[in-house]
Amino acid sequence: MFSSATFSDRRAALADALDDGLVVLLGNEESAMGYASNLYPFRQDASFRYYTGLNAPGLAVALDTATGETTLYGREASLEDRVWNGDVDSPETLAALAGIEHVAGPEALADATAAARASGRPVHVLPPYRDRQRLRLADLLGVAPGAVEPSPTLIDAVIAQRLVKTDAEVGEIERAVEIAAEMHLTAMWMAQPGATEYEVAAALEASAYSHGSYPSFPSIVSTRGEVAHHTASGHVLAEGDLLLHDAGCVAPETGYSSDITRVSPVGGAFSDRQLGVYQTVLDAQLAAIEASAPGVAYRDVHDVASRHVADGLVGLGLLRGDPADIVDAGAHALFFTHGLGHAMGLDVHDMEGLGEDRVGYADEATRSDQFGTKYLRFGRALRPGYVMTVEPGVYFNAALLEQWRAENRHADFVDYDEAERWVGFGGVRLEDDVLITDDGHRVLGPEIPKEPADVEAAVQSGAEV
Ligand code: GLY
Ligand code: MN
Repeated sequence: MFSSATFSDRRAALADALDDGLVVLLGNEESAMGYASNLYPFRQDASFRYYTGLNAPGLAVALDTATGETTLYGREASLEDRVWNGDVDSPETLAALAGIEHVAGPEALADATAAARASGRPVHVLPPYRDRQRLRLADLLGVAPGAVEPSPTLIDAVIAQRLVKTDAEVGEIERAVEIAAEMHLTAMWMAQPGATEYEVAAALEASAYSHGSYPSFPSIVSTRGEVAHHTASGHVLAEGDLLLHDAGCVAPETGYSSDITRVSPVGGAFSDRQLGVYQTVLDAQLAAIEASAPGVAYRDVHDVASRHVADGLVGLGLLRGDPADIVDAGAHALFFTHGLGHAMGLDVHDMEGLGEDRVGYADEATRSDQFGTKYLRFGRALRPGYVMTVEPGVYFNAALLEQWRAENRHADFVDYDEAERWVGFGGVRLEDDVLITDDGHRVLGPEIPKEPADVEAAVQSGAEV
């Protein structure tokens, strides 16, 4: 956890950015898996954690923007809590860690919001993404659950603050990338004929858990790489399979995320066909990283990657025509089906719960309605301190191919006979986490094998163990 001054300063900046009112931030509560005492692993709300650093359930804060003072609402642990779960910090201790001036019991939050409302002061809240939060906010605001109105000014102020990472935050993200490097090296070592995807996924996640970390999202470990978020199955790996591993973790002390993708040739050698696609994606990723700099719209960085993908696929005989024309028409999206990446921080898709368009487009860019590019989560200009993933891919998705062929979509650009010969190939995606600096960018964390020969060597070294 950072120093208490870090959180006091963040709250003071938030209060400065808003007119008079009461900001109410709810921390998350425990969530039951199947019955009340069997719980999902606790995940704190990222904005609550950003402004308090606190990672305990059942807390809330109210920040008075007029005085700049904050109250932490929480309850003392009961004897039962202490018998079953052990000692936990008191609200007073937590408040001191977060630099918070006042402490009150949970029920006092309703009084504070009622008093603000009675005196005509706005109560600013963020959009709820869990039903329980929505119900609590509805109670506090005195409205029906469906009528909870998040505060646009609060949302924009939080986005402006959280998007720009300090050096300390970047250090935490880099710690999460270091652990992710170990996760992906482990997956490369494990990519041997006879292992199941489950075994690789388990070993990859064990690397995170062994550092006191945990996955930042459900790990994607699959030979079905053409399905963007396919998780592991019992598939037994065979020589020549391509195993895509897209996984990250959180920094153990602070919860900042990483998100990395690599692709391993099972058994340790890419085929020529696999190399052709892999090199296309690698060229696109390196060009996109190179183009990432302050003032450049991430939408344009996406287009750089798209044109490299189109160029590579023309070379492989899957597309025909000029890459710029292919991308303008959107034909490349038959193979590059998603956006280039997203902001990353305390959330792995940073602040997506506050509204993807508000975070990624605001009034600076317009989301495309073209298949593929419309999934780009972030289009606006990059600024120093932003941390972005850069993750192009090429996929051979049978369902998409079947539909586009039936519609004869972009038939001038796509060689459908050739494309059908690639069904079953899977997919290739390469992802790194990139800091935008004052004069360009820096790829965060240690180098994780990515050149084909380096990935092959890492897989081969696993076979020797
Ligand atoms: N790495 C998975 C995703 O960004 O959706
Ligand atoms: Mn990602």
